[in-house]
Amino acid sequence: MTGASGEASTAASIAAIVRAGGEHVPELLGAVEEMLREVAAGHGEELGRHAGSTISAGGKRLRPLLVLLSAGGRTDDERALVRAAAAVELIHSATLVHDDVLDMAPLRRGRPTVFAEGGRAAATQTGDLLFARAFALLAANGDGEQVRALSDASTALARGELLQRADAWDASISRERYLLRCELKTAALFQASCELGALAAGIDGRDALREFARRIGLAFQVLDDILDVSGPAERTGKHRGTDLLDGTVTLPFILARRRDPGLEAIEPRSIKTPEQAEEICDRIAATGALDEARETALEQVAAAKAVLPRTLADRQREALELVADSVVARYS
Ligand code: IPE
Ligand code: IPE
Ligand code: MG
Ligand code: MG
Repeated sequence: MTGASGEASTAASIAAIVRAGGEHVPELLGAVEEMLREVAAGHGEELGRHAGSTISAGGKRLRPLLVLLSAGGRTDDERALVRAAAAVELIHSATLVHDDVLDMAPLRRGRPTVFAEGGRAAATQTGDLLFARAFALLAANGDGEQVRALSDASTALARGELLQRADAWDASISRERYLLRCELKTAALFQASCELGALAAGIDGRDALREFARRIGLAFQVLDDILDVSGPAERTGKHRGTDLLDGTVTLPFILARRRDPGLEAIEPRSIKTPEQAEEICDRIAATGALDEARETALEQVAAAKAVLPRTLADRQREALELVADSVVARYS
């Protein structure tokens, strides 16, 4: 059900990034896919089926791409780089499977979620499996720093998801609190992706790459929250208004409440049906808050690009800049 137009434009910008990254990138991405398929297989019929369908549903593979691009070209140990890229995608997939339990989401990547298909227990165990396999894979690189980087991101993610639950239904949360949540639940894994690429390739400039990643991660989540309001589901592969229905107050709603007293008076808990949620989405969009939120994302993207070290090769810089631009241009 993921729509052709959103998918096509996002795929086109990912393809441009891959081209800019260099000839070795498609080959390594192919190796990442193969590794993901291998890792998901087995583990008993039920787990294998859910893990396999999560992996085969696709997704943009943006985080593995960041790992490969942060390495800055061919490396001595490409197997280690591929393991790092696959490990990051496994953590990402694990968090999505768990996130869909927390958010009670019916649709992911245009397909029914593991939660919708197999229930809470199956989704919890599938997420746990993917987490466990990620660390087993990364441990094979024999570098404690890499395991530490991924573990830090996983911990931040868990904190971010809990913060989101703690803030649920509270329409008065501040923009700063919202950004902290985005930093924990989304930007931290972008940071780990860039750090792992640099570590696996043994290159300098990790701190700058981490800051670059933090900022594009923030922009990415802001855009995700805009897409939740703007939809349409045919483009995003997720229903509109999901955040409103599960009590998640995001930047578009925070900004729109300041612009429309009628919206400010709405108690989030009173939004109960998908139809009501869609109506509120239309009202949020009518205030112009989506453009203001997009400005925030664009500022982060500009700051991210500015922080890239001067020492980067032109090709690596160009590819990373394209990633930064793509996070605010995407539709899925
Ligand atoms: C979705 O991430 C979760 C967020 C952090 C907003 P993606 O949009 O990268 O998900 P896939 O992997 O492409 O499906
Ligand atoms: C991002 O949060 C998910 C994680 C970082 C685990 P969302 O709840 O906004 O992501 P979607 O919209 O379900 O993809
Ligand atoms: Mg969610
Ligand atoms: Mg969302």
